[in-house]
Amino acid sequence: MEVVVAKSAGFCFGVKRAVDRVYEEVEKHSDQPIYTFGPIIHNEEVVCDLEEKGVQVIDSEEELKGLEKGIVVIRSHGVSRNIYELLNRPGIQVIDVTCPFVKKIHRIVDEQSKAGYRIVIIGNAKHPEVQGIIGWSNSEAFAVETDEDLDRLPFFEKEKVCIVSQTTFNYKKFQYFVEKISKKGYDINVLNTICNATHERQVEAKQIAGQVDGMIVIGGKHSSNTQKLFEICKKECYNTCYIQTVEDLDLSWGESLKKVGITAGASTPNKIIEEVQTKCQS
Ligand code: F3S
Repeated sequence: MEVVVAKSAGFCFGVKRAVDRVYEEVEKHSDQPIYTFGPIIHNEEVVCDLEEKGVQVIDSEEELKGLEKGIVVIRSHGVSRNIYELLNRPGIQVIDVTCPFVKKIHRIVDEQSKAGYRIVIIGNAKHPEVQGIIGWSNSEAFAVETDEDLDRLPFFEKEKVCIVSQTTFNYKKFQYFVEKISKKGYDINVLNTICNATHERQVEAKQIAGQVDGMIVIGGKHSSNTQKLFEICKKECYNTCYIQTVEDLDLSWGESLKKVGITAGASTPNKIIEEVQTKCQS
């Protein structure tokens, strides 16, 4: 079987930077409790490995408020302004590994909302990155992911509206919503904040999926960027499967296939991609 692995598969720059930093902190501060606010990445293996090294995941603001001391890592998704305020107290050290591309969106939203623009984020309102972005707006901000969300926007004609995107959002869907919003008569300022890493991974996945008999998408089941990769690949190649680790790969799946493509979401370690590739070639 011929196996083609996407060059852009796996950790993006922001996730690699965040994960490496947590491992560095573990090395440097074995004497202090280390927490991450939410799992550092959508990958159970990595999160479990860190847990074994003493890194605990904090899931709620309540838990954050209850901390008396320790190091709190803010992951690449970023957080709202009020979380920084909450952590700004004696005994707590903050390690901020928010991806610089997400930080840029925070700055845009802060500045534009101060300048009187209403903020629209094209993305999933429940995603932590979007919740963080919303938390930098100085007026109520709105996430749009469906036509219904669009219809609920409470803006009046000619109102100033700034549109940004969740970094991992699908480019075509972003364009679709921007086009619809632009017909509503607002005074819009569109900033495409989709991260290139995601776009490049999607373009390459589509291109490979169009040339193979079977496609394997690797990633955590809660990872939205992996789910999107799967959607894109499935459209090009019906025989696309979604796995989390090499154990999920059923060898009978690929028995009759001559050429198989592999891609992986932003939170998938290289080690897993290599294991899948090896299994396919064995
Ligand atoms: Fe950052 Fe882009 Fe990754 S925004 S976290 S480099 S997907």
